[in-house]
Amino acid sequence: MTSLRIGYLVGSLSANSINRKLALALKRLAPADVELFEIEIKDLPLYNHDLDGSYPEVANVLKAGFADADGILYVTPEYNRTIPGGLKNAIDWASRPWGQSSLGKPSAVIGASIGAVGTAVAQQHLKGVLNFSDAPLMNQPEGYIQFTENLITADGEVTNEGTSDFLKMWIAQFSEFVAAHAAK
Ligand code: FNR
Repeated sequence: MTSLRIGYLVGSLSANSINRKLALALKRLAPADVELFEIEIKDLPLYNHDLDGSYPEVANVLKAGFADADGILYVTPEYNRTIPGGLKNAIDWASRPWGQSSLGKPSAVIGASIGAVGTAVAQQHLKGVLNFSDAPLMNQPEGYIQFTENLITADGEVTNEGTSDFLKMWIAQFSEFVAAHAAK
């Protein structure tokens, strides 16, 4: 029986995103009583506060995804040493209308890049944004994944045992973090 629901946002819009593969790996490796589901961001228009009283349906669906989740997981690439614009745009939609932010849930950040930096810089920037939302944010363990060729298959199977063990531990820790904060 599922007892925790974690919504995840993938910061890349690419059909072949290595970060989507990482999200699917975490979904496969999560504890049996934890369900991961995607909160999609790819069809959101650019955020405009003129629309705060009349959100487009796609933005309402985004906020419903946050509402449906016990915790939020951000799985993001690093673009030009920071957060991808598409992900920041989704966060702006989720943060409004004023006084109705969806961001305050227990949250964590993880990401994959093809370089050794493993999205560390983007994650620092994203954590700064999430700190402003006052969401409880898991600081440890950190997850900086260098995506070597074929590390994770398109359907989320991890081909390296060490990485698989690490990701299983990481998502178990985040599940415990969500359970602890959701209970408060
Ligand atoms: C990148 N990439 C990249 N990698 C990195 O480690 N630091 C960076 O600052 C950047 N900058 C950057 C900008 C742009 C516009 C692109 C398209 C790519 C490389 C990046 O790690 C690689 O393309 C990943 O495949 C991106 O993740 P997704 O989109 O496949 O999930």
